[in-house]
Amino acid sequence: MHKTQSGDRRFSALTQLIVFFKPYKSRMLLAFLVLIIAAGATLTLPIAIKLIIDQGYLLQQPELINQYFILLIAIVAVMAVFSAARFYLVMWLGERIVADIRSKLYQHILKMEPAFFETTRTGEILSRLTTDTTLVQSVVGAGISVTLRCSFLLTGSLVMLSVTNLQLTGLILIIVPLVILPLIIFGRKIRRLSKKNQDCIAESSAIAGETFNAIQMLQSYLLEDFYSQRFNASVENAFNTARKRLTARALLAAFAIFIVFSAMMAIVWLGAQWVLAGKMTLGELSQFLIYAIMVATNSAALSEVWGDIQRAAGAMERILELLKSQPEIVSPRHPQLILLSKLEAIHFKHVFFNYPSRPEQHALHNFSLNIAPGETIALVGPSGAGKSTVFQLLLRFYEIQQGNITLGGIDITQSDIKQLRQACAIVPQETSIFAASVMENIRYGKPDASDDEIRTAAKAAAADEFIQRLPEGYDTSLGERGIRLSGGQRQRIAIARAMLKNAPVLLLDEATSSLDAESEKLVQDALQHLMQNRTTLVIAHRLATVLRADRIVVMNHGEIVAIGNHQELLEQKGLYARLAALQFGEIH
Ligand SMILES: Nc1ncnc2c1ncn2[C@@H]1O[C@H](COP(=O)(O)OP(=O)(O)OP(=O)(O)O)[C@@H](O)[C@H]1O
Ligand SMILES: [Mg+2]
Repeated sequence: MHKTQSGDRRFSALTQLIVFFKPYKSRMLLAFLVLIIAAGATLTLPIAIKLIIDQGYLLQQPELINQYFILLIAIVAVMAVFSAARFYLVMWLGERIVADIRSKLYQHILKMEPAFFETTRTGEILSRLTTDTTLVQSVVGAGISVTLRCSFLLTGSLVMLSVTNLQLTGLILIIVPLVILPLIIFGRKIRRLSKKNQDCIAESSAIAGETFNAIQMLQSYLLEDFYSQRFNASVENAFNTARKRLTARALLAAFAIFIVFSAMMAIVWLGAQWVLAGKMTLGELSQFLIYAIMVATNSAALSEVWGDIQRAAGAMERILELLKSQPEIVSPRHPQLILLSKLEAIHFKHVFFNYPSRPEQHALHNFSLNIAPGETIALVGPSGAGKSTVFQLLLRFYEIQQGNITLGGIDITQSDIKQLRQACAIVPQETSIFAASVMENIRYGKPDASDDEIRTAAKAAAADEFIQRLPEGYDTSLGERGIRLSGGQRQRIAIARAMLKNAPVLLLDEATSSLDAESEKLVQDALQHLMQNRTTLVIAHRLATVLRADRIVVMNHGEIVAIGNHQELLEQKGLYARLAALQFGEIH
């Protein structure tokens, strides 16, 4: 993954959770107190039972039996109330902390630059955001609760055992290391397998995500079976690692249960001998027995939850990998101010750039261009020439290898990224429509815009008419990725967004064929209006756009091959003339 550190120390991942606990100190304290009271009540239960057997039952004192039963009920009531409170408080902590982790993770991921998303699949990230956090939740909530309660009860019952009978307790202590050793060995294995299991699950959600996003393409090329098999393979993979993990856990459980319970049996057997020999009362043996069962069940529960904890540690490692990957493109500590109110020049000086995923190929090669304030520049060139790349670099989505780019005389690496992007309105080649109403979709251009402003922008973008015809007009909700709009309609929404943003720099990546002739005329007029009083860079596929530009920049293979106006460039009979003949064929 992108710039990660591998923290392979055991537990290191889970100890990082502490940061998330910090805001909830008082709740944790409360939960801890409640837990101690509940466990304390549980631990007094065997004493009460012993008293009933030894004093009440054996000595035939019915009124004592009644009193002890009332005491017993009181203890049980305390146990019930405090156990319920412990459950609520601890689970609350679990839910709360995982909610915090999710939000933090999402916020963090949103800061990453495009290169990160090129090397990490969306499904993978989504899986970390959902399934891994859920696993952590199981530990933070139930896991910690069980661990604390069981360790407390285990220690408590061990102490009470030794108070009841020291010799018998000595025997128990011999078996403790026998239980702990396999816990450590199996625990490590479970954690590793768990992480692998989560990786496999993430792989399958990545496949699912990709295919659902391209469902029509998939169905039209009859790729259903192909992808079903790929998905199946990855699910089977996940199952296989899960199976191995379960085997390890089952072995661990068998081991722990056998050792603990057979030791208990031996002790009970010994105790029974002692009662027969008169060295111990029946009540004492009962008390001892109940504590012994507590030791056994609690250590069994601990060994089981240990597996869960290891599993969550694996998941937490994956979450931390994401949290630790830092965006490489960040604003400088003391950024220089870009004036949004004033038109500014844009300079590209000897820019060399290659995409991080393709280090051997220059996407831009010695690209130099001076754009005057308010000028309109048309970028033309064959597909793959690097036109869209120019926009991405100006918006600082990628870091250039050589040269520099300035806006208003300020090197963009010296400016605040948010401010830089605020200064530019882009209509991208492929419009993103979000699952929200038309109104909201346009409002993304200026979050505090009023409904009237939005309508005005839509009118200017020649979008008002088709929006009015939608079932609920401006309130119509657009499906995920705007499936319910045509390409040209989507484009006009994007233009309205850019109009609303009203930024001094306008970047238009014209799509070739999204608009019919009539809408195109409307949009052209709208754009013409928009370009006034703005520094505009437009990737032009249409003659009308090219003719309106102050200068035309012809690009090929990442380099500028010619600059001029339409007539000049035609006369040069170079690449532009060929492109013009093909693309704007009708003018010859
Ligand atoms: N994210 C990316 N990672 C790696 N290579 C990329 C990336 N985006 C674009 N490229 C490559 O960079 C080159 C320039 O791409 P660019 O998108 O700038 O072309 P373009 O001129 O906009 O083409 P079109 O007219 O088809 O949109 C192409 O060879 C392309 O394959
Ligand atoms: Mg492009």
